[in-house]
Amino acid sequence: MRRFLMESRTAAIVLAAGLGTRMRSERAKVLHELGGEPMLARVMRALEALGPNPLVLVLGHQADAAKDAVRRYCPDLAVSFALQPKQRGTGDAARCGLGAIAEDFRGDVIILYGDLPMLTRETLGAFRRAHREAASKLSFITVRLPDGGAYGRVLRDKSGEVEAIVEARDANSEQRAITEINTGVYLVDAALLRAVLSEITADNAQREYYLTDIIAIARKRGVRVFGWRAERAEEFAGVNSREELAQMEARIRETVNRKLMAAGVTLIDPPTAYISEQAEIGPDTTIGPNVQILGRCRIGRGVIIEGTAWLSNVTLGDRSHLKLGVRAEDCTIGPECEIGPFANLRAGTELEGRNRVGNFVETKKARLGRGTKASHLSYLGDAVIGSGTNIGCGVITVNYDGYDKHGTRIGDRCMVGCDSQFVAPVKVGNDVYVASGTTIVRDVPDGSLVLSHHPQAEKPGWMEAFHKRHAGRARWWEEKH
Ligand code: UD1
Ligand code: CA
Repeated sequence: MRRFLMESRTAAIVLAAGLGTRMRSERAKVLHELGGEPMLARVMRALEALGPNPLVLVLGHQADAAKDAVRRYCPDLAVSFALQPKQRGTGDAARCGLGAIAEDFRGDVIILYGDLPMLTRETLGAFRRAHREAASKLSFITVRLPDGGAYGRVLRDKSGEVEAIVEARDANSEQRAITEINTGVYLVDAALLRAVLSEITADNAQREYYLTDIIAIARKRGVRVFGWRAERAEEFAGVNSREELAQMEARIRETVNRKLMAAGVTLIDPPTAYISEQAEIGPDTTIGPNVQILGRCRIGRGVIIEGTAWLSNVTLGDRSHLKLGVRAEDCTIGPECEIGPFANLRAGTELEGRNRVGNFVETKKARLGRGTKASHLSYLGDAVIGSGTNIGCGVITVNYDGYDKHGTRIGDRCMVGCDSQFVAPVKVGNDVYVASGTTIVRDVPDGSLVLSHHPQAEKPGWMEAFHKRHAGRARWWEEKH
């Protein structure tokens, strides 16, 4: 209890306003995807373990897309957003973030960069413990790299005390040879942060406000700076180019796949299984070649995914079977379903269990009760269908009138004949038999047969007369060259 009282609060600022020029992209760097989600989501999740409050995300380039990504991929996180209108450097970005933290906030602020997707919660936790144990007012994480490349170098005095960080572009050759680098993760007492941030200037090679300058400024004020050396340098690899992105992707994929296999999941061809770290997959599930399982998917046990599937935010019940070529997004598939080959399950599809959705069937906001089947060539949109109903080949819910979408309801145990249309809004009761080729335009009561056939008529000899009318013309079955 005493320890709890002594621990100060932690606020967080994540810097993610930059475009990332070396990516050569119109998309902000932090929105490029790694392991099936924007890299920013990974950083936010690692940070979540520290319970920061407030948690401020500084955005600039594609701020709206970044907000959407955070809401979609980190739905449980309370995040406040701060805008950095012009990207004038990490110091300026930190100032923007600080603007979103109450003036009277007392405690530490952790600042980190949005392009550190390999950072783990364990390392962040260890850093904060070390910072507290040292009773430090300003700490940052360093690692040793044989070649510091573009990273900022850590300057220490003869007694080993940190004096400053110098950016690679501003460093002389002697400084550039230093192997201890700045990772871009800082913990600073809030009051001190306000003071030192107000002093930084853009007096450097890039004419930018460097956050790294707070180190030397703090030193000048007589504040001791704690450079905490992390063991695992690989956690701090920043992504700066497409090549680095692909390398990191391969590493993440390998780790995820190894974990899944150890937990009893069969991957037929691990290098082509692209599975998000967020996915939960039960034992004895088999995943075939070329499968993407993105976002937050929950896949049960004994599931078979044959191959070439794209799944995003999908729940898939035990023993379901996805045949070749299934695309499914934001939907729930119950147990023992059989889907595909070549099925498209769009957002809001809910299958209760033991359903069959066969080839060239598209569903959208469609709820199918237990055991209901749509085996071939159908469109089911904005539909609620009961259990034990059979949807024949080529059935269409006509849900869109050009302005609005309308719903179709079909009851339990119905037999819907091939090539029928439901012109929504419309409601069909339980135990209804829809004759094939029916266009349903009004509600149908329980237990009925419904049909809208034109009566069949035969005209003997009609074909001969037809050909006569086209005498001298080539016949359609004759070969043309
Ligand atoms: C920075 C550090 C460097 C460190 C390295 C670690 C500075 C000046 N340098 O360099 O010491 O070794 O990270 O990876 O801080 N950002 C903004 N607004 C801006 C500029 C940047 O929000 O105006 C964000 C970017 O979106 C990015 C992060 O800050 O997520 C870091 O910026 P970046 O340009 O990648 O810094 P580095 O040059 O890598
Ligand atoms: Ca960087």
